[in-house]
Amino acid sequence: MNKLIVYYQDRIVGSLIFDEEERLSFQYDNSWLSYKDRFSLSIAVPLSEKIYGHLDTKSFFENLLPEGEIKDLIEAHGKTSIRSEFGFLKEFGGDCAGAFKILPETIKASKNKTQRKELKLSTIYKYLVEKKSLTDEILNHEGGKFSLAGAQDKFAIIYEDQKIYLPLDGSPTTHIIKPHVRYFKTTHDTPYNEYFCMKLAKAIGLNVPEVDIIEGDFPLYIIERFDRVIKKDGDILRLHQQDFCQAQGVTSLKKYESDGGPSFKNNYNLIKKHSSAPIPDLNQLLKWFLFNLVIGNNDSHSKNLAFLQSDDGIRLSPFYDLLSTSIYKEIGQNFAFKIGGQSLWFKLKERMFDRLAGELELKNDVIPKLGLKLFSDIEKKLPEEVKAFNKRFPDVKTAAIVEKEILKRVTFIKTTFTL
Ligand SMILES: Nc1ncnc2c1ncn2[C@@H]1O[C@H](COP(=O)(O)OP(=O)(O)OP(=O)(O)O)[C@@H](O)[C@H]1O
Ligand SMILES: [Mg+2]
Repeated sequence: MNKLIVYYQDRIVGSLIFDEEERLSFQYDNSWLSYKDRFSLSIAVPLSEKIYGHLDTKSFFENLLPEGEIKDLIEAHGKTSIRSEFGFLKEFGGDCAGAFKILPETIKASKNKTQRKELKLSTIYKYLVEKKSLTDEILNHEGGKFSLAGAQDKFAIIYEDQKIYLPLDGSPTTHIIKPHVRYFKTTHDTPYNEYFCMKLAKAIGLNVPEVDIIEGDFPLYIIERFDRVIKKDGDILRLHQQDFCQAQGVTSLKKYESDGGPSFKNNYNLIKKHSSAPIPDLNQLLKWFLFNLVIGNNDSHSKNLAFLQSDDGIRLSPFYDLLSTSIYKEIGQNFAFKIGGQSLWFKLKERMFDRLAGELELKNDVIPKLGLKLFSDIEKKLPEEVKAFNKRFPDVKTAAIVEKEILKRVTFIKTTFTL
């Protein structure tokens, strides 16, 4: 029997088991169930003495892993033992999204000083020139020990004095770096795209972490982790997060509604039922939804929403992964969620928003009112955000392209909002 221990700081939370039939199970530790500040892995795996079976267990742990081609590359180039969710977490589960460390039984969760090494920009550029996956190289050759979800290349780091460090022992990281998307010819500017959309999101009042671009031979998008807090003594505390697939007990295969995953209504109701402050969180969610629609972010699926654990329960976390995918013609043009049965923005009609309002048990004028206010804020803030971007990156056209896309969509969607 293979066993991994799930820790919160130096406390045992529970055990993850991988049996001979390659099935996963999880059980909370009694000491965790009686700990005064206990919290659950996710809404779908509530605190209980029972042994959770394969699907419930997988819904939490599989969602911590990289997806698709990136995961395939890491598995193909790494040790054979990592070719299962259990094996992957055994190797790289020291630093995941959220507060838990996942370690083999033989390793104790220690508070020893972090062992880390500097990762030079020149090394990152060398891998990019060679068209290698950075996630794969950093995990398999540079000693990185982290697991992060998502289909895009990325890695978790400590960023200090503008230097990049890799913890070599699964110690907590503070930032995430994403290079440009290399599946398509046109997506060489995704770091600028995501940077610009996140800045615009902040300007119009969406809750987003600090982001930046590390300039050099290739642009690198860098985002502060909202699930880490740097204490005065320099120690890094982990906060717990669960994405909306984990929360609803489905694996990453169902992150899109079109693949049988959660609909917008499911996500809305999840917040309504479980957030400790549903009113501001639902307001943020509706703004997030309309913002994604008008920037053309067709990748705004349920793994791009998360709850963050706080002292008084769970709250919708800051937003991440906001970029205009629709400016790249090779990428699917269907919005991640259906609106009254429709997923193409230019086919939207008033009655479709009315149908959505009905599903969310809202009056018909709530979404148009919120939308018109949001669009007017976007129209106000866009010029100054584009100007700031162009001043910093005079040779990069991305902000102007995204601006055009946004204005086209805002103009059309406004016509469906009659009040
Ligand atoms: N600022 C952040 N703080 C904490 N966790 C984060 C942050 N940004 C991203 N994450 C975690 O990393 C995961 C992957 O990030 P992100 O969604 O940006 O990657 P992606 O590969 O572009 O995703 P997708 O598959 O949606 O394209 C998220 O699902 C989330 O768990
Ligand atoms: Mg994502």
